[in-house]
Amino acid sequence: MPPRKAPRSNPQPRPTPVPPPSKLRPILLLLTGGFLAYLTSHLLAHFNVFPVPIALHDSIQKEPLRIVAVGDLHGDYANALAVLRMAGIANRKGEWVAGRTVFVQTGDIVDRGPDTIRLYKLMQNLSEQAVTAGGKVIPLLGNHEVMNMMEDYRYVTPEDIESFGGLEQRKRDWGREGWLGKYLRTWDIVANVNGTIFLHGGLHPKWAHYGIPTLNTESQTYLQTLPPSKLYHVPLFGGDGPLWYRGYAQDDERVVCKTLENALNALKAHRMVIGHTPQLRGEILSRCKNQVLVIDVGISSVYGGNRAALEIVGDRLVGVYEGRREVIAE
Ligand SMILES: *[C@@H]1O[C@H](CO)[C@@H](O)[C@H](O)[C@H]1NC(C)=O
Ligand SMILES: *[C@@H]1O[C@H](CO)[C@@H](O)[C@H](O)[C@H]1NC(C)=O
Repeated sequence: MPPRKAPRSNPQPRPTPVPPPSKLRPILLLLTGGFLAYLTSHLLAHFNVFPVPIALHDSIQKEPLRIVAVGDLHGDYANALAVLRMAGIANRKGEWVAGRTVFVQTGDIVDRGPDTIRLYKLMQNLSEQAVTAGGKVIPLLGNHEVMNMMEDYRYVTPEDIESFGGLEQRKRDWGREGWLGKYLRTWDIVANVNGTIFLHGGLHPKWAHYGIPTLNTESQTYLQTLPPSKLYHVPLFGGDGPLWYRGYAQDDERVVCKTLENALNALKAHRMVIGHTPQLRGEILSRCKNQVLVIDVGISSVYGGNRAALEIVGDRLVGVYEGRREVIAE
């Protein structure tokens, strides 16, 4: 499976801040003829003309990234927004309030519930607002997004169909040229944020070896070029593929932790965060010594409306629940 296009860049650790100017700097500037500029900037700084000191920007960059991950939403806007508010991602109106946070959604926004359009619009809004605030939204595809692109409507509710204006209109909207279909076909299936791998189902070593840029380019190429009926035959979207595999959430740890380690080694990563396999007790499941975290807690009312998000700051992992925060690792 060779890459067809140049790999797209993935979220990387923030760039190393520029070191502070040394004592040599005035001399160097003088030698390069920039003394006048130096003198001017020094005087301006002295009289406090620059309202924001440059050093402030650098000190922010040194802070570890705050990452918040939320699992399957399945058509329930009210519970989704409640989780986002609880985790400090959005306010009551669905506006981004998380500053420089990276917010990852691990797929399955659609199906089983009615609020499909509203939820994707929320994601679109948050993505734009996050950029302005210096943060980032990383929306990932789940198996249910791809099922809808395959025109597999087994889990679509009548209210959802109605919200699109009927089945035919819905089909067009989800198509390669539809407003929603076009947007979703730009989403990735796997992300690496500073050594944490995020995806919907789980990344078996078999797939991990291709590397994340290749997996995302391949997925987008298939989704953007193949008609719905052909997508069924793409192994990347099959049962042991990244969107469907449940091994890390379900299989015996004595076997599956070794598999996980192989996948993480191939990606040079610390841990994997996945959705897809509902935890009906409403608790984030940690397995293999916190190397895999299952964050599908059944947020949609179909699964009980359990509210939880995972917060990662450096190596500190915290489960954020209604009225309590539970440290998973530090
Ligand atoms: C990246 O991860 C490492 C190790 O897990 C952590 O120590 C560091 O603070 C993180 N960096 C950022 C920018 O979050
Ligand atoms: C998205 O933003 C638009 C423009 O501000 C707003 O009208 C709309 O209600 C927002 N949608 C959601 C679901 O938050």
